[in-house]
Amino acid sequence: MSSKLNAIERDARVMRLSEQLSEIEQRLIPTGLHTFGRAAELREKADLLRMVASFDRPEHGARALPKLIAEALGIQGFERLLQESSTSESRELVDSIVADAVSRFCAEGIEAASSFLQLKAGVNCDDSRPTFELLARISEQLDSNHELDSLLRSLRGDYIAPGPGADIVQNPLVLPTGRNTHAVNPYSVPSRAAFARGKLTAEALLRRYVDERGRYPRALALVLWGLDNIKTEGEGVAQALWLLGVRPVRDALNRATELQVVSLEELGRPRIDVVMTVSGIFRDLFTPTMTLLDKAVRTVAALDEPFDLNYVRRNIDHSLESGTANFDDAVARVFSNAPGNYGTNVNFMVMDSQWETADTLGDLFVTRKSFAYTRDSNGRTVEGREARELMDSALAKVEATYQNLDSFEVGITDVDHYFEYLGGISKAVETRSNSRPAIYLSDSLSPQTKIRSLEETVRLESRSKTLNPKWYEGMLKHGFRGVAEIENHVANTFGWSATADAVDPWIYTEISKTFLLDQAMFERLLDLNPYSVQSLINRLLEAHKRGFWNPDEAILEQLAQSLQRFDFASVQTDHT
Ligand code: BEZ
Ligand code: MG
Repeated sequence: MSSKLNAIERDARVMRLSEQLSEIEQRLIPTGLHTFGRAAELREKADLLRMVASFDRPEHGARALPKLIAEALGIQGFERLLQESSTSESRELVDSIVADAVSRFCAEGIEAASSFLQLKAGVNCDDSRPTFELLARISEQLDSNHELDSLLRSLRGDYIAPGPGADIVQNPLVLPTGRNTHAVNPYSVPSRAAFARGKLTAEALLRRYVDERGRYPRALALVLWGLDNIKTEGEGVAQALWLLGVRPVRDALNRATELQVVSLEELGRPRIDVVMTVSGIFRDLFTPTMTLLDKAVRTVAALDEPFDLNYVRRNIDHSLESGTANFDDAVARVFSNAPGNYGTNVNFMVMDSQWETADTLGDLFVTRKSFAYTRDSNGRTVEGREARELMDSALAKVEATYQNLDSFEVGITDVDHYFEYLGGISKAVETRSNSRPAIYLSDSLSPQTKIRSLEETVRLESRSKTLNPKWYEGMLKHGFRGVAEIENHVANTFGWSATADAVDPWIYTEISKTFLLDQAMFERLLDLNPYSVQSLINRLLEAHKRGFWNPDEAILEQLAQSLQRFDFASVQTDHT
């Protein structure tokens, strides 16, 4: 290889590295647990306000500060710079002015902050003022926390005013906290804004697949959750509709109950088959939406279009040819738990180490989730008919699996639910299609939608949370519970090895080094919460035993030795 090529390759690697570093740097990292009844701390508040200020808020007449600054400085193509997530001098300049302006706002208020922007970047005060006014309202609400008061009033049986449920960055109207979270009207889903965003995300998802595999996926499996679709007013629903190539139409009562087929010309690609597994919460909250989704698949399946432009029709025809089903069975694409049941139990099986081969985890997912919500040949609603064979056959055609990430606070290693759902379905697909699907998550946590592979997302979460001192020191301020959170993150990471083989071995090595092989840290954790430390060590040893990680003998030996510290009779447990 010529040295010139090496230099080019080296530059490309340095560039990629720098992009990854800036990606981690730009992430909002939760620095501790929420303490019930306590308002946000100043630094946490500044971080939140900076994120709030990076989105346009037309509903509040407020514009994104980075855009205002870029325009005033005459930076061309700033939107594109944001999309690329690359570091550039302009991007760094804008980010640092935003950070300074928000600090100025926190210290001195609206007028000082908008004058600062005028001086520093030439942003007209009248343009930035609405954004700072919005930040001022949010800031005041962050300081006034009604949680304890509301709890007491609810215990007395008093009325608690309702408020929307969402992420603060996504929808600042969730503040003040301490209100009764209300859901959405399912007939309003997807909202117009959600549909516009859902389209972009679905197209980005398809672009990513095409970039990697050279053609469109013939079928995708989507996970739809209830709370996410409340928060986003149905972005996940919108994605499913757009993948199929239909848009919702409102009836005379303004309810999204009808559909319009998007022409193949407008779509510019084939219609993608989608298998939707919805959570029990979604099923309970979004009954009319499930009917809409089922109707969308039926509508698309009945279009007179060539198979290579309509994968729904193609796949259904295949099922009918192989004689496994009639049309009404073959078209079933909306699956959930049996009525009254919730969850996949894949998380419990993983946490309790109760599986031998990974197929078992996918099979359990299907056992729990193979209840079809559709219609029968007489047009009657079918609510949760056991349909394992139909689900097996639909999953056998899936080539990629996907779930939205929609919160700044909860990611794929914070809770066990992401791996039970997305991991569970990916394993089920792998066994049934004899091929591991591409697994993706979207990141609507930034003004631009990003699609990441599962492996990339696990790396990003490990670096920005589990292995990040800013994150774990924040957790350790909570003592016993903080150590339990660290252990949870490791167990959830392990869940991604178990269901999807998506964890790089170095992640386990770094976890071992950071929390267990560093003697001072080990003693500190042991003192705070020996039970979680013991589980953590056992989990790492299990990761090795199951072949997820093959570290040096020295590391294994040290881990095994540290287990000897757990004669609980002699461990101090005076954590009152
Ligand atoms: C839901 O919002 O549907 C959901 C939330 C957590 C776990 C599973 C489902
Ligand atoms: Mg849980």
